Amino acid sequence: MNARTARIGVIGLGYVGLPLSLLFEEAGFPVLGFDVDAAKAEALHRGESYIRHIGPQRVAGAFARGRMEATTDFDRLRECDAVIVCVPTPLGKHPEPDLKYVRVTAEAITRTLSPGQLIVLESTTYPGTTREEFLRRFEDAGFKCGSDVFVAFSPEREDPGNAQYQTRNIPKIVGGIDEQSQKAAVALYSAAVDRVVSVSSPEIAESAKLLENIFRSVNIALVNELKIVLDRMGIDIWEVIEAAKTKPFGFMPFYPGPGLGGHCIPLDPFYLSWKAAEYGVWARFIELAGEINTSMPQYVVDKTLKALNESGITMKHARVLVLGLSYKADIDDDRESPSYEIIERLDELCESVSYCDPFIPVSKKTRKHDLGRRSVPCSAEEFAKYDAIVVATAHSVFRDPALYDSAKLVVDTRNIVHSPRVVRA
Ligand SMILES: NC(=O)c1ccc[n+]([C@@H]2O[C@H](COP(=O)([O-])OP(=O)(O)OC[C@H]3O[C@@H](n4cnc5c(N)ncnc54)[C@H](O)[C@@H]3O)[C@@H](O)[C@H]2O)c1
Repeated sequence: MNARTARIGVIGLGYVGLPLSLLFEEAGFPVLGFDVDAAKAEALHRGESYIRHIGPQRVAGAFARGRMEATTDFDRLRECDAVIVCVPTPLGKHPEPDLKYVRVTAEAITRTLSPGQLIVLESTTYPGTTREEFLRRFEDAGFKCGSDVFVAFSPEREDPGNAQYQTRNIPKIVGGIDEQSQKAAVALYSAAVDRVVSVSSPEIAESAKLLENIFRSVNIALVNELKIVLDRMGIDIWEVIEAAKTKPFGFMPFYPGPGLGGHCIPLDPFYLSWKAAEYGVWARFIELAGEINTSMPQYVVDKTLKALNESGITMKHARVLVLGLSYKADIDDDRESPSYEIIERLDELCESVSYCDPFIPVSKKTRKHDLGRRSVPCSAEEFAKYDAIVVATAHSVFRDPALYDSAKLVVDTRNIVHSPRVVRA
């Protein structure tokens, strides 16, 4: 690893895999990125980035130095000394883990597996996946782990758009199947990230990632529930949190919102509750948090309709503007965003629903949603046209108070608009 001659393969060049590929390239390694989406490989070769917070200069630099390539040809996995898997791990309809991307990838790797290769899974998943989906296939193909090949799990902790913590300075948990796999995986990541945290098995590493996400989901559910309770009592949850967080120990602030979004927090906890059922145990906190968090978009819709009613506007004649399609501030990631559900529910009840999001000028077709509309301009003149404005995302641009000078009614789920015409939701 010290010589930086090992070729690193990264499968899945998305929010996790692309920055990881760039990190290894920047650390001096030759990197071969794999994706099923040919458009992504082509864009990268042209020096373009399809992820907003990853600048095209970084991509162009990596390709100009000649150390990085991107391909859809999975036979080239043979050329890699280490292969890191960053493919999606979504939920099915029920909502059960959908491991199809992981399985297809494990099969592709098994077909080309070569002696000495290190395979690391990074995709978030339930404990046991690395062993069941990778190790088992490799052993069935006649490879012995720890001598012929090496296998580990290392969870990604990417926080898109976070200026302080990026792939390099976020500590990396690594859990190998055996001692040799552990050594190989620790050596790999130590060459590119500041701190590697070695744990005793892939299951510990898989579970640690789920604990991190469940911790967030449960705490967000707690403040979302308190928001409803305190609102009924006429108490402002935001001021309560500001007061509570002055405690210098034993408290960590979480903030209410319109519902969970992103690839991780709304989905990953259910990977564990699903697996727990196999062992006859019920992860009640996970289910309860899921129930509360998924009810939030409807709460926002109800609050909006009530506020419209109180302003004397019938909902079927109301024109509503939703601010923000991204699930969090100042990024262009709209996966699992609660804004979609808010818009679709309002669509059924109101005269018209528009959205404004400078990060997403045209709505994308997703697995579940297809709004088929464009962002309206972000201006006070535009905002004045609507009967109600629902603030769903705290993009910095939406914090300008002048935008709301002539707004008739603002329903704010993020506590960023401060004027007498604001209703908190
Ligand atoms: N986005 C995050 O902030 C984040 C943080 C921590 C963990 N994770 C986890 O990392 C994993 C990847 O998430 P992501 O956000 O990068 O997803 P993503 O959707 O941004 O990227 C996944 C990429 O994999 C590609 N892909 C799909 N099937 C493939 C296959 N069979 N072979 C090769 N490529 C394939 C897709 O085209 C896409 O480019 C998930 O398990 C997720 O839970 C994500």
